[in-house]
Amino acid sequence: MDDGSRRFHPFTGLIGDRLLCGGLPPPAVLGSRRGKDSMADTQRPAPVRALDWSAADARAFGSHALDIWTELLDRLHDDLPVVRNRSAAEVHEATALEIPAAPMPIDSLVAHLRKVVFEESMYPGHPGFLAYISGAGTVPGAAADLIAAGLNQNAGGWRLSPAATEIEQHLMGWFARRFGMPEGSMGYVVSGGAMTNLIGLTLARTRHAGWDVREEGMRVGPQLTVYASTEVHDTVDRAAQMLGIGAAGVRHVETDDRLRMDIGALRAAIDADLAAGHRPIAVVGAAGTTGTGAIDPLSDIADVCSEYGLWFHVDAAYGGGAALTDPLKHLFEGIDRADSLGFDPHKWLYTPHAGACVLVRDPDALVEAFAVDASYIVTDNDQTGWGIDIYELSPQFSRPFAALKIWVSLLAHGWDAYEERIAHDVDLARYLHRVMMEHPELEAMGDPGLSITCFRFVPEDLPNHIDTAGYLDLLNERLMFSLQLGGKVFPSNAIINGRFALRSCIVNFRTEADTMDQLASETVRLGSILDAELRPTHLR
Ligand SMILES: Cc1ncc(COP(=O)(O)O)c(C=O)c1O
Repeated sequence: MDDGSRRFHPFTGLIGDRLLCGGLPPPAVLGSRRGKDSMADTQRPAPVRALDWSAADARAFGSHALDIWTELLDRLHDDLPVVRNRSAAEVHEATALEIPAAPMPIDSLVAHLRKVVFEESMYPGHPGFLAYISGAGTVPGAAADLIAAGLNQNAGGWRLSPAATEIEQHLMGWFARRFGMPEGSMGYVVSGGAMTNLIGLTLARTRHAGWDVREEGMRVGPQLTVYASTEVHDTVDRAAQMLGIGAAGVRHVETDDRLRMDIGALRAAIDADLAAGHRPIAVVGAAGTTGTGAIDPLSDIADVCSEYGLWFHVDAAYGGGAALTDPLKHLFEGIDRADSLGFDPHKWLYTPHAGACVLVRDPDALVEAFAVDASYIVTDNDQTGWGIDIYELSPQFSRPFAALKIWVSLLAHGWDAYEERIAHDVDLARYLHRVMMEHPELEAMGDPGLSITCFRFVPEDLPNHIDTAGYLDLLNERLMFSLQLGGKVFPSNAIINGRFALRSCIVNFRTEADTMDQLASETVRLGSILDAELRPTHLR
């Protein structure tokens, strides 16, 4: 390299013919005095290319990354545990390298990345991962993420992301149509359901507070109130807190025996707040609760919202994937009437984290809530032919091209494969329910909701006693940790009517019926061991 540039070669650690050791540019480059004179002294800076890897360097490093990823895919089914039993201190010690001043040799870096991936990680894409609601991660989606990062468009502004913005808007239109929302609805991709709930309630607050919240803040006006069932995801409460509505403004409406919002109780809560001088602004309907997959009566909620003039936000973070499919969409009647709707492709469209969609019936609501007048961004779309700037309609300014992994996954697999697999996840949940019903020491807790099955271990010889319920909670809680640390299957839990339940949620295209059988057998095996250790004498 004889052009005078400082080019780092990642595979030798050399810059030109010497090893990079960092350090500041020479004083002449920095300039030592202020003003015109010092500018005159400034030398023409030589190129600094240490960060500018060539295509060949990228290919060499990228091929190592590809090797790690494909080995992971090969080993996910049979070889790797879902998790390893490691403490935070052990993982920190093994993974958290100090940042060197000089480049780490590529071989050492790759060896460390292999250790991170194969020795110190857990695997949400493992067939035995059945916890929370965390998609397995599509393979084409992961490859698309590399392209998106490589391209590095900033999807905040059209001029910085022509293709990204057009693809994202095209994808949002497709989703909105499949949800049955009217032509003209629009949306964009954010980090997750937490953000979609925050945005939905922000729109509601701007529209229905009754004063200019953006101008005047929350100093004026009555207490605003928001309604959601007792089963709602905590991010709705947190959104209300962040928006200054406060926990004091969130009403947790009772549910029916299927854990769906009780519409009579909703009306009563709104009426009580109106009578008390509060100002109701929004109802959040769950299209698949986190605990049990219950779907609130969305049509009835939409009726209540139009009757009282409230914003209707649907949290479809989990159920949205199912609501898009022909076989299951009938379960979500009324979802098309949402003013705003959030759903997480990184849950039940299985795409890699992070990417959730917020869809809004009236795009003006986004303008009202988020538009800014940035003096440093001059726009004249008539002159330029450029398109929409999402930074104007969203709480984010810079944004990744997160839509690409969702779109590429849909293109690569085709929609039929999604419809089939999502329905299959529901079938597996039902099969697991049947296995639980048939086993003498396993108890199904409620019917399966979408792809969620709740159950618990109940030792056959456990006597009926006043302490039995408490003991079963303790036993099953301990059992959940044993299962999780066991490495074969990884369920989580739900609290159902105050009782601790084990919970399997399938948003994983690698899970099959053999994993359901294994979950049942491991629950009984580990449950019996724990019961022998934990059961108090008076329950023996
Ligand atoms: C119903 C529901 N809403 C919102 C969220 C939050 O979503 P995220 O983790 O994508 O922010 C979740 C997460 O599981 C959820 O189940």
